Amino acid sequence: MAEKALLNQIDPIRIPEHVAIIMDGNGRWAKKQGFLRIFGHRQGVDTVRNVVETAAEIGVKYLTLYAFSTENWSRPKAEVNALMQLLVDSIEKETPRLMQNGIRLETIGNVAQLPAGCNKTLSETVEATKGNTRMTLILALSYSGRWDIIEAVRKIAIDAKKGLIDPETIGEDDLNAALNTARYPNPDLLIRTSGEQRISNFLLWEIAYSEIHFTKVLWPEFSTEDFYKAILDYQGRERRFGNTGDQIKQVV
Ligand code: FPP
Repeated sequence: MAEKALLNQIDPIRIPEHVAIIMDGNGRWAKKQGFLRIFGHRQGVDTVRNVVETAAEIGVKYLTLYAFSTENWSRPKAEVNALMQLLVDSIEKETPRLMQNGIRLETIGNVAQLPAGCNKTLSETVEATKGNTRMTLILALSYSGRWDIIEAVRKIAIDAKKGLIDPETIGEDDLNAALNTARYPNPDLLIRTSGEQRISNFLLWEIAYSEIHFTKVLWPEFSTEDFYKAILDYQGRERRFGNTGDQIKQVV
């Protein structure tokens, strides 16, 4: 269906506040065209730009992209270096557009592990865009869900050892507050491209009640229409958060 027709079907009142995306399939897309994997990542940046702007246009407030996982460090060195360079170049190039579109850039993950130049560019853009309020774009870099949970548990344990927190009272709120994602609402919708149906160590704690949309489309080919279809899929779901369908209807 054409882009406009899909957009018309979207209920503007039920736009997911937070969308998280596992951008998968760059390597396979490049291979299909007979190119090196990095060419797929480069093409993937065009998709990132389009999805970021489309999300902001329809009213998504937080968009989290899994740009580089903890596990991605074990890819061939040349691919890791090329990805880091692509990240620096893209952030530098896209900062004016982020400003024009009112988008704030933030990161989650062990960013201290990234090359110094990459870190510098990221913190400059985070600083430059911090006053923007239309949408927050969160890049997950050197990130994994288990890494974040372990870091959070360590922080809580240290506070307990110092007597700042009573171990008997530790609850969900304490873990929420100690995670890298503390300042964001949990994702309403998680999208994974490329046909794989896995979570791959992404926001493990945060997606407890997220709706999940899997699509076979490879990330470099993920279009505005595909994004709208994911939103429509989300809007067709009944979110129960552990309640019965009847209970939900009573609330509405
Ligand atoms: C997964 O595809 C994709 C990545 C590991 C990297 C995603 C990064 C980008 C799209 C560029 C990031 C840039 C910005 C500005 C956020 P894959 O390589 O695992 O694909 P495959 O499964 O087909 O091999």
